[in-house]
Formats: sequence, C-alpha cells, structure tokens
Amino acid sequence: MKKVKLGPQTLLYPMPAVLVGALVNGKPNFMTAAWCGIAASTPPAISVAVRQARFTLEGISANSTFSINIPSADLVEKVDYCGIYSGHKIDKSQIFRVDYGKLNTAPLIQECPVNLECQVIHSLDLGSHILFIGEIIETYVNEDCLTDDKADPVKIDPLIYTTVAGQYQRLGRGCWTGLEDWQEKVEAGLNGEGVSHLVPRLARLRRVQRSRVQRFKGQGKSICSIGFISSIGFIGLIGSIGSRLVELINKLNKFNELNQ
Ligand SMILES: Cc1cc2nc3c(=O)[nH]c(=O)nc-3n(C[C@H](O)[C@H](O)[C@H](O)COP(=O)(O)O)c2cc1C
Repeated sequence: MKKVKLGPQTLLYPMPAVLVGALVNGKPNFMTAAWCGIAASTPPAISVAVRQARFTLEGISANSTFSINIPSADLVEKVDYCGIYSGHKIDKSQIFRVDYGKLNTAPLIQECPVNLECQVIHSLDLGSHILFIGEIIETYVNEDCLTDDKADPVKIDPLIYTTVAGQYQRLGRGCWTGLEDWQEKVEAGLNGEGVSHLVPRLARLRRVQRSRVQRFKGQGKSICSIGFISSIGFIGLIGSIGSRLVELINKLNKFNELNQ
C-alpha cells in the first residue's frame, strides 16, 4: 500500500479523555486532557501535556500537585464542557462534587469512577505545552467498578478521544486476549502463519522444559540419595567382609599354632 506523507503531526490513536484537576486560587478547577499517558511504573507516574495558557496550569505550578480523573462515558457532556470553557472566564468549581485525599491540593471528582492523586516530580517546557510528570500517590476506584479486587475497564466505561474527528468514543469489542488466544491457536494446530505463532509455542515449550528440569532435578536428588545410601551400604558390606576375613585369618593362625 502506498503511504502518503502528512508532515509532522501529533497523530496517535487512541487517546484517553480525562479531567485534570488542580486547585487554583483556593478553588478546584478541571480541564479536559487527551495528551495524557502512563510514564513509569516505579515510582508509578503519569504524564500530562498542558498548554501554557490553561488556567489549570496555574494551580499545578503553584501546588506541584494535580489529579487525573477518569470519567465514565455518561459524563461526556461535562467532559466536553471542561474542554471548551476556561477557568480564566468561568467558575468550574461547582460542576462536580469534590473530595481531597492525601495531598490536600489535588481535587478528586466524586462522579468519576477512578481518581489518580499526583505529586509533580518533573516538568518540561516543550514550547506550546508544559509536560508534567506526576508520581501517582494514591489511586481511588469505585467499589462497583472492581472485578476480583481489580479495576475493571468494562465497568469503568472510560472515554476515548480521536483528534481528527473530534469525537468521543467508548471501548469497543475485544479482539485478542494475549496468551489465552495464542494457546487456543496452537492447540488447534494452526501453524504456518508467519513466525508469530512460535511465541506461545516457545512459551509453552519453555514451561514444559522448566517442569522437566525440575522433575529431573528431583530425580537427580533421589538418584543422589540412592547412590549415597548404596555407597554407605557398600562400605558397610566391605567392612563386614573385612572383619570376617580378619576373624578367619586369626582362627587359621590359632589352628596353625596348635598344630605346630
Ligand atoms: C477532548 C479534549 C482534549 C483536550 N486535551 C488537552 C490537552 O491534552 N492539553 C491541553 O492543554 N488542553 C487540552 N484541551 C483543551 C482544554 O481542555 C481547554 O482549553 C480547557 O478549556 C482549559 O481549561 P482551563 O483554562 O480551565 O484550564 C482539550 C480539550 C478537549 C475537548
């Protein structure tokens, strides 16, 4: 397929649509952000790109804290509103019910099923935007959005944003479940579709090999112990034969002495 050059573009799909919270002049303010993503796992960190002119930027810079609130699809109108209207012009502090967690200056939206409370650990002036890296100090998830104590994306029902269309979307149908599907494919014997099919096979082979090695080690141990026990027995046997021989020799010597 022929590729068409579009020039350097900030083209990435999909992007999330989150609400960034900050305390500006003592009041909570929220802006919508799509340029947001996980940055590190240790410490757990998230990045968000905030344009220099945003009201929210004032709060983040003043307190070095912010929140990332993940809205459900049913909050889409409020999300869009916070992405159109600036706190410079209107008061957005009453749109949501707000809680505070450990940091006191990162407003957490009650209506959002997930809230990440963040402490700024880096900020990078990239020109149009400041890239804030926040260490995630605490994560809050609605109880009814958990499955087996883990945050369940289907229950959270987060928003996805696509720049060109300017459209909000929901999570779509799943199309692949990592190893499980590979396993199924391998078990069905569907080979010869490139090298990718080797990945789970290798993983499985490695698992089989590992268990064989463990079994072998186990066998090795028992072989060693059998060997150890038998060698002790052998030494004992040699010892008893030896002492019998000595006894016999002594008896022969005595017999010889008597007959001399
Ligand atoms: C879907 C969507 C995504 C957006 N993503 C960002 C973003 O990542 N960074 C940014 O600075 N502005 C982004 N904006 C624009 C701000 O949300 C918008 O300018 C907002 O009014 C700023 O609010 P504030 O001035 O109260 O901080 C986005 C807007 C929308 C609708």
